[in-house]
Amino acid sequence: MTDMYTQLVSKGPGRDIARKLGLPQPVVLRRYQPDQPLVTGPVLVQGAGAGADELASTLLSWNLDVRRHAVPKEKLGAIVLVLDELGRPEDLARPVLTAATSMRDLAPNSRVITVSRTAADTADPAVAAARQGVDGLLRSLAKELRAGATGNGIVLARGVRTTSPSTLGALRFFLSGRSAFVDGQFLTVSSTEGQLPADAGKPLAGKVAVVTGAARGIGAAIARTLYRDGATLVVVDIPAAGDHLAAVANEVRGTALQLDISRTDAGQRIIDHAVERHGRLDIVIHNAGITRDKLLANMDEGRWNSVIAVNIAAQLRINEALLASGHFRNSPRIVSVASTSGIAGNRGQTNYAASKGGVMGMVRATAPLIGTHGGSINAVAPGFIETEMTARIPFATREVARRLNSLQQGGQPGDVAEAIAFLASDAAGGISGEVLRVCGQNLVGA
Ligand code: NAI
Repeated sequence: MTDMYTQLVSKGPGRDIARKLGLPQPVVLRRYQPDQPLVTGPVLVQGAGAGADELASTLLSWNLDVRRHAVPKEKLGAIVLVLDELGRPEDLARPVLTAATSMRDLAPNSRVITVSRTAADTADPAVAAARQGVDGLLRSLAKELRAGATGNGIVLARGVRTTSPSTLGALRFFLSGRSAFVDGQFLTVSSTEGQLPADAGKPLAGKVAVVTGAARGIGAAIARTLYRDGATLVVVDIPAAGDHLAAVANEVRGTALQLDISRTDAGQRIIDHAVERHGRLDIVIHNAGITRDKLLANMDEGRWNSVIAVNIAAQLRINEALLASGHFRNSPRIVSVASTSGIAGNRGQTNYAASKGGVMGMVRATAPLIGTHGGSINAVAPGFIETEMTARIPFATREVARRLNSLQQGGQPGDVAEAIAFLASDAAGGISGEVLRVCGQNLVGA
């Protein structure tokens, strides 16, 4: 679905009128295209320690135009603020206030990325205070950025370096147009697992991926994105969506599996299909989901049970089959689609939010289990995404919902798909048990 307002105010007289009236001025976001440069201009790496030096050298080896000091008036593609050696809150002042002098030099669609250490790893109150301070700092800064620029953070667990594979994988994701609608978010790198792809344009080459609910909407976008990134696809949906499913399967040169994921044998059916038709199974994306909205006062058993059955019980059962299978052992990756409703709550969605909160709990608890096979599991929580589902929201409510984030617009199904493709790749192998929001930094609720 198109957002006419954004098209109208992003250029020409429409832009001037919106500016004069003080109306929201969303810009058309720079989204990933193969062969596009990673960033829109020079990258300023700030921070004094060895971690910052090592990171700057790595960015140079990627042929980026790297600066260690700001050049007055030069337009920047990104600022990477390395804060991995904080000992107390006062240590924030120098690097942060130095970076502050470059904020006005950020180009449209540029990036600010912090690299810091997790507060959870330390018993020292001053260190914890300094580290957790980065959370509030980055989330506030992201709300100050304009013109499609975003701010996100990478958090390192103990033993993880600024140049560990998934630190670099997350950095590439946040710098690139793949993260266009991810704003004000953190990704924790919990281990030194993972590997950057040999071919950055085909990070999923050689992998067989299953996407549920792929006949339309976000699921179809996920299938297209994984295919673009080199994966072989199995697309799954209910028999009633068979025609649409076949069309998506043809488009991505994959195979279709008509299956209701809430069947008790769904996990085994998925494994058997992938192995029989494609010889292996590496990635499962749990995207299929339903809504049956009602205020809790009017909720009935049918609405409650069907949402729980499809959105979370089916995922748990399929994961059990996957973890027990000898065919899902080679750096397996699971990514589940949650929702910001499961974090912030949404009127009329007690059943749906319970199921999506459940997805996040499931992901956290499954991470150590899949870790024993060298694998990872994560969730992506979309905010307002332009789909058939959100097109049915009444106009005024939709307009308000769509503007209430830092980027002042709804996301595209492809934005969710990009985050999922990154988390399904080996570049994210050191990231597990995480929830990444793709919401343009919602201003209300979580
Ligand atoms: P959609 O309704 O357009 O597509 C969902 C697909 O899942 C459909 O093709 C449907 O046939 C399939 N499906 C439903 N039940 C199934 C079952 N039992 N077995 C197999 N397939 C089944 O929904 P949309 O908007 O593309 O959403 C995809 C996911 O993203 C869902 O999990 C949804 O909860 C989540 N989400 C969507 C947001 C949005 O703004 N559209 C926001 C947050 C989360």
